[in-house]
Amino acid sequence: MSTEALLDVNTTSLAYIFTAILFIVGLKRLGSPATARSGNRLSSLAMLVAVLATVLGNDLMSWEWIIGGALVGSAVGAFSARKIAMTDMPQLVAVFNGFGGAASAVVAAAELVRLINAGDEIAEHVSITIMASVIVGSVTLTGSFIAYGKLQGIISTRPLLLPIRNVINVALLFGMIASTVWLVIDPSLTPFLIAGTIALALGILVVIPIGGADMPVVIALLNSYSGIAGAATGFVLGNTVLIIAGSLVGASGLILTRIMTKAMNRSLANVMLGGFGVEDGASTGGEEETRPIRSIQADDAAMMLAYAQSVIFVPGYGLAVAQAQHQVRELADLLKEKGISVRYAIHPVAGRMPGHMNVLLAEANVPYDELKDLDEINGEFSRTDVAVVIGANDVTNPSARTDRTSPIYGMPILNVDAAQSVIMMKRGMSAGFAGVQNELFFLDKTMMLFGDAKTSVEGIVSEIKDL
Ligand code: TAP
Repeated sequence: MSTEALLDVNTTSLAYIFTAILFIVGLKRLGSPATARSGNRLSSLAMLVAVLATVLGNDLMSWEWIIGGALVGSAVGAFSARKIAMTDMPQLVAVFNGFGGAASAVVAAAELVRLINAGDEIAEHVSITIMASVIVGSVTLTGSFIAYGKLQGIISTRPLLLPIRNVINVALLFGMIASTVWLVIDPSLTPFLIAGTIALALGILVVIPIGGADMPVVIALLNSYSGIAGAATGFVLGNTVLIIAGSLVGASGLILTRIMTKAMNRSLANVMLGGFGVEDGASTGGEEETRPIRSIQADDAAMMLAYAQSVIFVPGYGLAVAQAQHQVRELADLLKEKGISVRYAIHPVAGRMPGHMNVLLAEANVPYDELKDLDEINGEFSRTDVAVVIGANDVTNPSARTDRTSPIYGMPILNVDAAQSVIMMKRGMSAGFAGVQNELFFLDKTMMLFGDAKTSVEGIVSEIKDL
């Protein structure tokens, strides 16, 4: 069943302008935990308006396929977003990025086939943007799925370094440039398919050498690529809203990549050239550890906290695994009732995704003004009685300052070791994400409280209530 466009060009353009404004306001509101939910809703609404305006503003071949596709896509999106554990969110984002890249490549392919079949001359800039869509989209597709595999543990998280990988990558790059020139001179499907295949291989080859610890940076970068692919497809189709949305995703993904590399004290080139986590001589969690540690129980921890004047909570990935945010909030409330100053130290890459800790703590209604970022809080540890590390590890590791052989050397860390005493909650002695031993465990001032973080905090709460 084919139909003529139901919206005229002016109405469609107005809808696109409205959409662009909603996207920008939505993005702005994502900047603070207080407004992030409404920002997300605004952006979703913008996407709905954009899709409706595009569908209603064009002559359509088949409503059945569009409605069917929208229903299946919405069902898969809603189901996966509801089902996914917060700790697995980066994997979901990786998969969504991959599909975004694939969509751009497929739309570019469809447009090329349409133009070839129509027998019209294809302008140079159209050929180039078609190639940009397929190349960036295909790199994003395979790169994202490799990133997904690494984070999910399906593929080894260790960097896989092929001996002449840079030579191969440069050769592939030249192959893509040559195919683009070929398509401009002689528009046909062959150069398009060659470039697409090379780009699929390149996506695998550029992500496979990157260690698991750098995957979030890679995912942010691939997110940016999916936006660039979308924007290129927008140029191919002459669709303004796709250009705007794609550019917003491309730019914000790049900014996020920059923030994350800065937080890890790495350059993007250093991340992309790979090899993180393979340095010889770095002290790893896998080595036999014989140094003594001090271990305490919930009642000792409760006493330390109840008689402190100031406490800083340092949440990390383990807080997310244990889902202990509500118990931590309850503990903080009890301490505040006793007149104790309570703050939360938030490291920019604590957890497994940007803003992970902010989201978790906001869920437990922790007041935003108690969340302090690295620069704000680092000077405060030396004036703090007890730092309570809840499932954080790498972001507190003092060897990041001193051990040049450590893969996290140079990463700015929270100066937990400057506090008077440290309570370290984790289940055992295992290393954090970067796979390196944490020197904090072995300091005289550090007390290890072993167990699931939620159970440990619950234990402390009940002990404090009994005091
Ligand atoms: P990690 O260094 O990964 O350490 C988390 C610790 O939590 C582990 O040592 C683990 O020790 C403990 N843990 C796990 N489950 C627990 C539970 N149920 N109860 C108590 N403890 C539990 O975490 P971090 O300090 O937050 O550092 C984040 C790391 O991830 C950095 O290396 C960062 O570069 C990387 N990274 C960051 C991001 C972003 S953007 N945030 C994304 C991906 C990776 P046990 O097993 O002994 O309990």
